[in-house]
Amino acid sequence: MKTTDPGPLLRVRNLTVTFTERRSTPWRRPGAVTAVNDIDLDIEPGGTLGLVGESGSGKSTTARAVLRLVRPSGGSIEAAGFEVGSFGRRVPIAYRRAVQAVFQDPLGSLDPTKVIGDIVAEPLGIHFGLRGRERDKRVAELLDQVGLASHHGGRYPYELSGGQRQRVNIARALAVEPKLIILDEPVSALDVSVQSQVVNLLEDVQERTGVAYLFVAHDLAVVRHASDRIAVMYRSRIVEEGPADRICERPAHPYTEALLAAVPDPDPARQRLQRERRRELRAAAPAAGPRPATGCPFAARCPHRMPVCAETFPGWTPVPDGGRVACHLFGGEGTARPSDTHPDYQETSR
Ligand SMILES: Nc1ncnc2c1ncn2[C@@H]1O[C@H](COP(=O)(O)OP(=O)(O)OP(=O)(O)O)[C@@H](O)[C@H]1O
Ligand code: SF4
Ligand SMILES: [Mg+2]
Repeated sequence: MKTTDPGPLLRVRNLTVTFTERRSTPWRRPGAVTAVNDIDLDIEPGGTLGLVGESGSGKSTTARAVLRLVRPSGGSIEAAGFEVGSFGRRVPIAYRRAVQAVFQDPLGSLDPTKVIGDIVAEPLGIHFGLRGRERDKRVAELLDQVGLASHHGGRYPYELSGGQRQRVNIARALAVEPKLIILDEPVSALDVSVQSQVVNLLEDVQERTGVAYLFVAHDLAVVRHASDRIAVMYRSRIVEEGPADRICERPAHPYTEALLAAVPDPDPARQRLQRERRRELRAAAPAAGPRPATGCPFAARCPHRMPVCAETFPGWTPVPDGGRVACHLFGGEGTARPSDTHPDYQETSR
């Protein structure tokens, strides 16, 4: 069903996705896994939201829920003017056109029996009824738009490099003139030297077409390069959200700090801070163990945890220079932040 509200391009509210656990042993009765727990996301038209977090945090499940590849157990998703929850078994073709996807494995997403020109041409026939010379002309334009030459149109996927294949996937997504592209780890399988070329390409494409992105990745450095806002996910929850530069320069949540401490920084002063953060995190308990049913999902690893952290999931607190954080250090009864790296918070929280 189409909505009449001209709000954000993507509006996710209280999204929860629960799976039956993958069975570890045949005699154990499988339980339930909450892969995504009560999350909100917004993307404005033409904007990029980076969704970052470690493996298993629920990023792909969130992306798949927006694409309607999994059915949520709670909450709502509005995207490109559609209420995703109102879809029956069949997703409307207009939604498939408005919301496209590019996944991590560039080769696996391409039909090995078809040449690149035919792969890019296929959606043009399906969605716009383009044929013959008109279609060839559009294929050439799309290949050019993603930095490929027209002769690549005659090649098979296995004849291209990883970066070129991902360019083909981007061209195919762009062919239907989508409003939003879900990019699930789009550069993670590529060489580091090629990753920034593909991210730059995505930026160029956005400037030219006004398409919005949900950019999912586990690497904060990549997400920062690609995004204007970032949401940080940990064990099924969003724990911090805000402008990309603020998140990366003045992270509020201890988990965002942990992610940043893992990103190599050329500045020696910052390297020293990173080493300190890593030491603090190592001193805290390891990541393993079941997801806590209550309280902060990061409590087992957090160097700043307090008794309240194990009991209640922290509510949202606005961050002075943009976005919000879910952490007891910032909310509630004047709790203090024991960090020397966040001058903004020393005034507001001490
Ligand atoms: N179809 C499924 N059935 C059962 N459990 C699932 C299913 N899909 C995902 N999960 C579980 O949900 C949790 C979140 O998985 P998800 O793939 O969304 O994480 P992710 O953040 O994308 O991780 P990665 O960085 O490894 O891709 C994990 O515990 C995973 O095992
Ligand atoms: S709520 Fe508590 S345990 Fe969670 S990140 Fe904040 S201080 Fe650490
Ligand atoms: Mg994933």
